[in-house]
Amino acid sequence: MEVIEKATPGDLPAIRELLSRLELPVQDLGAENQTFLVARDGGVLAGCVALETYGEVALLRSLAVQPGRQKVGLGHALHDQALSLARELGIRDLYLLTTTAERFFARAGYARVDRGAAPADLRGSHEFRTLCPTDAVCMARKLT
Ligand SMILES: CC(C)(COP(=O)(O)OP(=O)(O)OC[C@H]1O[C@@H](n2cnc3c(N)ncnc32)[C@H](O)[C@@H]1OP(=O)(O)O)[C@@H](O)C(=O)NCCC(=O)NCCS
Repeated sequence: MEVIEKATPGDLPAIRELLSRLELPVQDLGAENQTFLVARDGGVLAGCVALETYGEVALLRSLAVQPGRQKVGLGHALHDQALSLARELGIRDLYLLTTTAERFFARAGYARVDRGAAPADLRGSHEFRTLCPTDAVCMARKLT
């Protein structure tokens, strides 16, 4: 059974390895405005997710579950914890970019938006600058 909790600096190498394995961006990991949550099973990293905050807006990023552990609910559990964290941080709007998980996020309450509609700070983020508009879908949801 996995435990989901805030990551420590020591988790970064395993997070980087998981994200690289799943072909998600790693070049900008460790920035001050990023908060990572990890799912651990014993000492093993089972999954992760992060919020990258820009005032009352956040980019939900780096949601990843080890390939052998997918499709049993861990992705949604990590996402639920990220929503709780976002509420704690006073976030009102969440944005994300995805090339592979649009259906997952649609079920989690996100709708497709034009990436030009995202706040300017967010459009300046590494993910927005590096993920190609023709490959990555931009999605958003409000937090109540
Ligand atoms: C997207 C991702 C995080 C989802 O993780 P996951 O652990 O498979 O997610 P879940 O198991 O919670 O849900 C996946 C699907 O399995 C289904 N599922 C969950 N538990 C289930 C169970 N016990 N039995 C059968 N199906 C189940 C869910 O209904 C869900 O369907 P949906 O995608 O239509 O909503 C994972 O596929 C991944 O790491 N992908 C690569 C990285 C990526 O693309 N990340 C997103 C970019 S930020």
